[in-house]
Amino acid sequence: MGSNLRTSASIRGHYCLRDPMNASSAMLSLAARLALRAAGDVEPNPMVGAVLVRDGVVLGMGHHRRFGGLHAEREALADCRRRGNDPRGAIAFVTLEPCCHHGKQPPCTDALIEAGVVRVVYARPDPHAVSAGGAGVLERAGIACELCGDSPLATRLSDPFVKRVTTGLPWVIAKWAQTADGRLITRPGEARWISNELSLGRVHRLRARVDAIVTGIGTVAADDPLLTARGVRRVRRVAERVVLTGGRGLPAGCKLARGEGAGEVLVLPGFAGRADLGAALRLLAAERGATNVLLECGPTLLAAFAAGGFIDEAFVYAAPGPDGAPTGADCLGACCVWLAGLTLVRSKPLGRDTEHWFRRNGLAG
Ligand SMILES: NC(=O)c1ccc[n+]([C@@H]2O[C@H](COP(=O)([O-])OP(=O)(O)OC[C@H]3O[C@@H](n4cnc5c(N)ncnc54)[C@H](OP(=O)(O)O)[C@@H]3O)[C@@H](O)[C@H]2O)c1
Repeated sequence: MGSNLRTSASIRGHYCLRDPMNASSAMLSLAARLALRAAGDVEPNPMVGAVLVRDGVVLGMGHHRRFGGLHAEREALADCRRRGNDPRGAIAFVTLEPCCHHGKQPPCTDALIEAGVVRVVYARPDPHAVSAGGAGVLERAGIACELCGDSPLATRLSDPFVKRVTTGLPWVIAKWAQTADGRLITRPGEARWISNELSLGRVHRLRARVDAIVTGIGTVAADDPLLTARGVRRVRRVAERVVLTGGRGLPAGCKLARGEGAGEVLVLPGFAGRADLGAALRLLAAERGATNVLLECGPTLLAAFAAGGFIDEAFVYAAPGPDGAPTGADCLGACCVWLAGLTLVRSKPLGRDTEHWFRRNGLAG
């Protein structure tokens, strides 16, 4: 709460810039940053954040914190009242169109109408057949609604949810480590890990928020991985561990075959040496409720996923060159073909490694 109040004080100055476009962008970005705190806690629901503003002052803010919990709009209204503010006459900035259906929670539209909010600015229409149409309900109640694309962060926040709902496919995050000369596989006898401890820590944090971790039988045979989130402060969800094979089963005695570590193990065998990747992803979304899938496989399967256009986001951990110089995103070599259609969002030093983060549709702007 303390940090929320500090944020509102700094935002107040920003919002008073007498530039409504800039204000919408700033408020929606703030709402998106709040929503991101619950990554891994709310799925298969969308991450959603909301900020209530009147006369350039932030009255309250909130986000959807956990699956089944209060929606962002009700969290923001509760925060507003806790601070002694009356939401009447406020503008609500919300990352996703407010819902208008009774699910685990009552409709957000009811809460906004009852609170006397006068305008709702939202970053993305709700594509879900059950909950969509909130803007129409609000407008019929006399509340002006505006779809606003000024904050790329707020717009892109709902990408995984929107993708699953509209295509039946989960959001696919590929992760790999590579040497400065572009190899994913070190020579026999060399150290097994390409990336350093800091990079490995980032991977474990990713594992701790996704629904499934997908690998290939080649990686299981070579590395005998456990594919669990370790050394993480809070495991937000225990991912299902999925192995794609061309037809053969798991090597006898490997950790996954022995059921070591937390998380169910699912082996999806293919025919004639190839699993149907689209079918595997659709199964994960439809039958296992997966919104986010982490791909941690070798180059064979990575190339196949990329060729199918299934990769939405990628974290590449690039080891430094022999002189210790960082490997830039423009020096990823042959692996770049797996990133076609993705945009570099950020390159971040992790000790002597560099994490390059790529994403479909980027986040720039
Ligand atoms: N640097 C990194 O980040 C990283 C990450 C993971 C692994 N690795 C390394 O990668 C090496 C293993 O590489 P890999 O390429 O053999 O392993 P892989 O990509 O994990 O697995 C490849 C296997 O997946 C199966 N498969 C099922 N459906 C497929 C499809 N549609 N298309 C292609 N393959 C399909 C095939 O098994 P069948 O043979 O049964 O047909 C294929 O041989 C290991 O040395 C490991 O250490 C590196």
